[in-house]
Amino acid sequence: MEIKITRTTTPKQKPDENNLPFGTYMTDHMFVMHYDTDQGGWHDPEIVPYGPISLLPACSVFHYAQECFEGMKAYRTAEGKVQLFRPMENVRRMNTSCERLCIPQLPEDVMYNAIKTLVEVDQDWVPHLPGTSLYIRPFVFGTENYVGLRIPDHYLCMIICCPVGNYYKEGINPVKIIIEERDVRAVRGGTGYTKAGANYAISMRAENNAEKSGYTQVLWLDGVHRKYIEEVGSMNVMFKINGKVVTPELAGSVLPGITRKSCIEMMHSWGLEVEERLISIDELMEAIHNGTLEEAWGTGTAAVVSPIGVLNYEGKEYTVGNGGIGEVTQKLYDELTAIQWGKRPDPFGWVDPVC
Ligand code: COI
Repeated sequence: MEIKITRTTTPKQKPDENNLPFGTYMTDHMFVMHYDTDQGGWHDPEIVPYGPISLLPACSVFHYAQECFEGMKAYRTAEGKVQLFRPMENVRRMNTSCERLCIPQLPEDVMYNAIKTLVEVDQDWVPHLPGTSLYIRPFVFGTENYVGLRIPDHYLCMIICCPVGNYYKEGINPVKIIIEERDVRAVRGGTGYTKAGANYAISMRAENNAEKSGYTQVLWLDGVHRKYIEEVGSMNVMFKINGKVVTPELAGSVLPGITRKSCIEMMHSWGLEVEERLISIDELMEAIHNGTLEEAWGTGTAAVVSPIGVLNYEGKEYTVGNGGIGEVTQKLYDELTAIQWGKRPDPFGWVDPVC
């Protein structure tokens, strides 16, 4: 399928790169593709000027939240070139999310081409300052004009982009995390392994309470036993306990993060052992009490690699390691960002040049 391009005649003024709040300033263009069963599936992919879309109040996504999304970034290298990081991982994961939500599979070649073409069209929006990037947000949702519950015959897939700086105001400085005891994010058999927008909707109450109490995000426990560690707000989580890196296994309720996967692959390449398994809150608390919890950090596209300096459990605060950035956390951040921004050769073949 060829992607039709209509360029804007009124380009917007770009925001100040020194002050780039996350997710606020959209670029000049967006990608749109329609699905209609009676037109044979996905059709008419196009890039058009960024702007409002028109939906009827009965539009199915408003009622049953049949929506999923992806998050990825384009990076500007020192030579001024623009590159993506493992884009096909996002394209494939989006289809995993679609499968769970009964959204028709997206043609992967068209999605890959759409991401690259949109970034190329909006290449002037990829910021230049260290630590900045262009955040790319593909999403898809049901658009059937029908209030009953059934699998829709109509969908819209879109991609929008925005130049971004740090996701957390802390930047690479350690964040404070509170272990959530009331709400749960996911259960096996549910949508925890997908990027369903609804996963994020149900996390807002706990995140909001955490923020009000001075914490950056929450650490989720499993939804059945409230015992096993799952993930942190919008990141996967990793711990270094007694010299070994451990991270919750992917057993259906945890998002298979692309930054998570990349960090595991990097650590393996350094000869570091990484265990993907169940980690109970009791094991974590024991490691805190006996001084073997050396490091804790989160990984995510938006958050990159984010050290955890403080954990709150049952109303008590515990400092992780010395409260600063641990050695493995710093090395992961340095090596990953060096590859993403093209400061170092990419031995893994993860980088995908755009223009
Ligand atoms: C990402 O890391 O890209 C995400 O989708 C998380 C989102 C809450 C910003």
